[in-house]
Parts: sequence; structure tokens; C-alpha cells
Amino acid sequence: MESERTGSPVKASLMACLMNTVPHCSPGSLHLRLQGSGGFCNKEIDVLSLLKMSFYPDTSICIFRKSKISCLHLGGTSLKAIVIRNYGGRDQLQLEDIPAPSVEKDEVLVKIHATSVNPLDWKVREGMLKGRRDFQFPLILGWDFSGVVMDVGEEVSQHYQIGDAVFGMPDLTKNGTYAEYISVKADYLAPKPRNLSHVEAASIPLVGLTAWQSLVTHGNLQQGEKVLIHAGAGGVGSFAIQLAKHLGAYVATTVSERNKDFVSELGADEVIDYQKQNFAAQLADFDVVFDTVGGAALEKSCSVLKPGGRLITIAGSANASLEERYAIRIDPVEVEPNGQHMKEILTLLENRKIRPVVEQQYRLDEIRKAHEVSESRHLRGKIGIVVQ
Ligand SMILES: NC(=O)c1ccc[n+]([C@@H]2O[C@H](COP(=O)([O-])OP(=O)(O)OC[C@H]3O[C@@H](n4cnc5c(N)ncnc54)[C@H](OP(=O)(O)O)[C@@H]3O)[C@@H](O)[C@H]2O)c1
Repeated sequence: MESERTGSPVKASLMACLMNTVPHCSPGSLHLRLQGSGGFCNKEIDVLSLLKMSFYPDTSICIFRKSKISCLHLGGTSLKAIVIRNYGGRDQLQLEDIPAPSVEKDEVLVKIHATSVNPLDWKVREGMLKGRRDFQFPLILGWDFSGVVMDVGEEVSQHYQIGDAVFGMPDLTKNGTYAEYISVKADYLAPKPRNLSHVEAASIPLVGLTAWQSLVTHGNLQQGEKVLIHAGAGGVGSFAIQLAKHLGAYVATTVSERNKDFVSELGADEVIDYQKQNFAAQLADFDVVFDTVGGAALEKSCSVLKPGGRLITIAGSANASLEERYAIRIDPVEVEPNGQHMKEILTLLENRKIRPVVEQQYRLDEIRKAHEVSESRHLRGKIGIVVQ
């Protein structure tokens, strides 16, 4: 681990970190775990020797002392991230070096191995959520990650340790996951599914939470009920079909010709080609509609429901006159990070009740191309992004 780079700012930062993290730091034996771009080691060392060492900039130090663990992420001064400095087109997406994030007491620092693209990302980039959510610039987009814990806040060290593989969705109003690292509330995470790659795991959190919170939390979908899921081939829809089948529901879904076999394989009982058929003329007496399209599809969906039916929408808003006319409830849902829901989703993934669908994969520096594909609105499943 010792490098030739002596006298670097990293050493000063190590001194500062030691003073803060290990108060009353005095010569004596420490058990160190070092992880960084130069490798990994576990060893006993005294404090004075530690201060004489120099480190690669991307280094985590974990100090085990009197059964208390203190973790320092030296992180050098910066990390690579895709940043936007204004709302606008894909040319706003710039690869930049930005300051490394700090870790609060209730957070963990995650080295991100993979993220994914959701329509939310380019909607935020274009300013379509202006006024609904407050974003600060420069802003890092992306709200899915799978990676490895590199540092742990003192309040959550019981739950996570350096080296744990985790996945999750961070806070929507803060910096996102098109980056090498993120500090995120430990409450938002779950262990990464053991049977999935980082890219597969990172394809899940935002769409999985959206489907869970729509069908389970808001929709209260029950065994034997009938649900119509719009856009069953998309990121949310492909997860929602599998979840609804797991819950024991009868599932109808709308797709174009090319995706008919795909959604049948996911478990859909009835598949409607929305470009050639009128779903509202074919379906009746449904208990739940999961609307992922909005506009005319939302309005037409009301007639599919039985009186007392529930229309859960992630693409439209409440409408009192439609609710009254059809005697239904329209419930708009905004996805939220939630570690408990992530753990429910983890179990479904590890038990192979739900599988990820990653149709395309790009590197972080190819993010503009990935946005272009997502903006076409005809993706099957998700776009995975390899970060490192
Ligand atoms: N409120 C929230 O919290 C929340 C959370 C997540 C997502 N969303 C929103 O929900 C929407 C869906 O998200 P997503 O991630 O699933 O999007 P997506 O993956 O980009 O959806 C693409 C899919 O939509 C299908 N599609 C397009 N137009 C359709 C139509 N008229 N009828 C049926 N299928 C159609 C396409 O299938 P074909 O190729 O077969 O046409 C494609 O497979 C987006 O607008 C997103 O912003 C909201």
C-alpha cells in the first residue's frame, strides 16, 4: 500500500481525519484495514508509523481500536461524476472531477460499481420537474446504485461494515449515482442480491420500489384480484408484472407487437397490443389499474375498473370528476427511498420470484447515448451503466 507519492495532500487529510475520528490518538497498537486503488491489506501498526506512511488518493482506512471501529475514507480530493450545471439537452451531461462527499452519522459511503438510467433522469435534466422538486446545481443525476461500502457513519456501524455489497435508491432531491461514490442514508439500503451482478442489481431499486409502493403499499393488491399494468415491457412494468403474479393476481398488460412474448414469459395472463387494440373495449371488472403512461390511457382506464376499484398512477394526477363518475379511487404515487421495501425486494430477487431485465448496457462516459435510448420510450426493461 505504501506509495512513492510522499508529501501529498492526502497525508494532511489523514492527520486531520485521525484527530477527528480517533480522539486522544496516541502512540500504540492499531489494527488497520486499508483498501484503495493500490490494493488491500489488514495489519497491526502503531500510530506513528501510520502517520509516516503515504497513501494513494483513493484509500479507505478502517481502524479497530478497543473493539471500536473508526473508518476514514481519504478519498483524496475528488471523484469522477457526470454532472449537469443547468437544465437542458444531453450536452449538459459532462464528466467532471468533483469533491468527494462527506459521510454523516446515519450514512454510509458507497463505492458505486453500477447505476442505471430511468426516464426520471432525463426528465430532471430537461427541467420537467422544476417547481415540484428542488434541485441544486451542479447536480449529479441517476437514482439507482449497486456497490460496496467504503465508510460507515458512527450511528449505523452496527448495520453495515466496510466491504459489504449493497444496493438502493438515494434521496431524490440530492446528488445521484452517476458517480464513483455516494454518501447515502443507511436506512435506504439493502444488501446486494447474491445472485445478481452489480449491473443487474443497479437496474432494480427505483423501478422495484415504484412497483412495490404502487401495488403493495397504495394498491393493496390481493391474491385473486385482477390488475391491468400499462407499459408492461418498460422498466417499471416488467418488474410490476412479476410482482403482481407473485402476489397471486390475474395480470393484463399493454405492449406493442415486439414485446408480446416477452411479457407473457414474465407471467402476464392477458396481453393487449396498445397500437392495434382498444384495451378499454376488451377489459372489464378489474380491481386495480397500474397506470405508467398517463394522459388518455389514464382516462380510458377508469372504465376498466369495477366500482370501488383502485387506479394507481405514476404518470398522472388525481381527478375528482373521474373518481365520482366511475366510483373509483385515483391514487397518484411518487416513489420514495425505503430500506425496508428494498429488503422485501431483495428476498424476491434472491428467491428468483423476480428477475432483472437489462436490455442495454453502457459505460458512465457513454451516458449521453444511454439517455438518447431511454428518451425513445421503447426500451425493454432497463439500461445498465457500468461505473467501475
Ligand atoms: N411517479 C413516480 O414515482 C415514478 C417512478 C418511476 C417511473 N415513473 C414514470 O413512469 C413512466 C414509466 O417508467 P418506466 O421506467 O417504466 O419507463 P420506460 O422503461 O422508459 O418505458 C418504456 C416502455 O413503455 C412502453 N410504452 C410506451 N408507450 C406506451 C403506451 N402508450 N402504452 C403501453 N406501453 C407503452 C414501451 O413499450 P413498447 O416498446 O412495446 O411500446 C417501452 O417498453 C415514466 O414516465 C416514468 O417517468 C414515475
